[in-house]
Amino acid sequence: MTNFSLLELNEIIQELRIILDKTAPHAVVEFIVLNPDIASGTYNGTRIKVEQESAIYRGYKTWLELAHILGCRMLTPKVIDEHFILMHYEKLTQDSFHTSDAQKEEKYGSDSIFSAIHKNEEAGFLHYFTQALQNVKIDERKRVLNLGINSGDEFELIQKISKNFVNLELVGIDYCASAIESAQKKFQNENNVTLLQADINNLNALNLGEFDLIVSIGALQSANLEYKKLMMTLVQNQLSRKGAMILAWPNCRWRDGEMLYGARMKNYAFSEMSNLYKDVIFAKKYLQQKKFRVTITGKDYIFVTATSIQKD
Ligand SMILES: C[S@@+](CC[C@H](N)C(=O)[O-])C[C@H]1O[C@@H](n2cnc3c(N)ncnc32)[C@H](O)[C@@H]1O
Repeated sequence: MTNFSLLELNEIIQELRIILDKTAPHAVVEFIVLNPDIASGTYNGTRIKVEQESAIYRGYKTWLELAHILGCRMLTPKVIDEHFILMHYEKLTQDSFHTSDAQKEEKYGSDSIFSAIHKNEEAGFLHYFTQALQNVKIDERKRVLNLGINSGDEFELIQKISKNFVNLELVGIDYCASAIESAQKKFQNENNVTLLQADINNLNALNLGEFDLIVSIGALQSANLEYKKLMMTLVQNQLSRKGAMILAWPNCRWRDGEMLYGARMKNYAFSEMSNLYKDVIFAKKYLQQKKFRVTITGKDYIFVTATSIQKD
């Protein structure tokens, strides 16, 4: 069995890349490393004497991160003894909804790979979205609009954390018929939730009135939307004077069951974030001009949260 416990991380990466090049998707690669439980309060790279040798300490975070960087899923390591563990990396397939050639409206439909994703079960999403909802004081809001609601995950979380859910009036929009149908099923017993199959480009024609909170997660970067124009329309026509916004852009991609860090752009073989930063900074500057306090938070999803600072 390959023992990596004496190698530097740079050497381990080089070795693993060579092995993974020859490995089939879903096959497992095994290697021995120092047992991370051997020490606490210890930074990665610290040398620890084990059996007369100077092994290199690394925690699980680095092993998990490295697995994703190399296009693998980290499986449960096997404990060999108190000093060493056997690490297992399973190579991921290329399966991803990002490569889907479905019709544009059904790319995120109930039969798509996207529909198998449960973002509220991803700690890197849930924590920052919950924080954003708390920052806008969701319990003090009344009318909530969600653009690109898909099957309703965002309203599910609002329902769970809000102390005031029945007093909210929630409207969700998506042009994907099958996704809206799934959302309607989920909320069929909630009279305060309206889910509309509609194109965000035709928002004005829907005459929905003003909202105290507008949420849009992972939808504003869609190629069919004129992002800057939409932002202006939302703030000018759909948001109440003391309203708030939570906007989020994915800084990740979904592949073979894993949420991998880093936005992917066409024509780049690696994660590239220029478009993401451009859109996030536009939102921040525009909303600040319109007298909102704006924060940028998150990791796998970047959240722009805006609350009005207009005087009564
Ligand atoms: C990446 S998904 C995100 C869905 C959901 N907010 C989430 O994070 O799980 C983008 C959603 O926006 C919807 N969408 C994209 N363009 C749209 C448009 N012009 N009008 C309505 N919905 C749109 C898609 O159908 C899809 O459900």
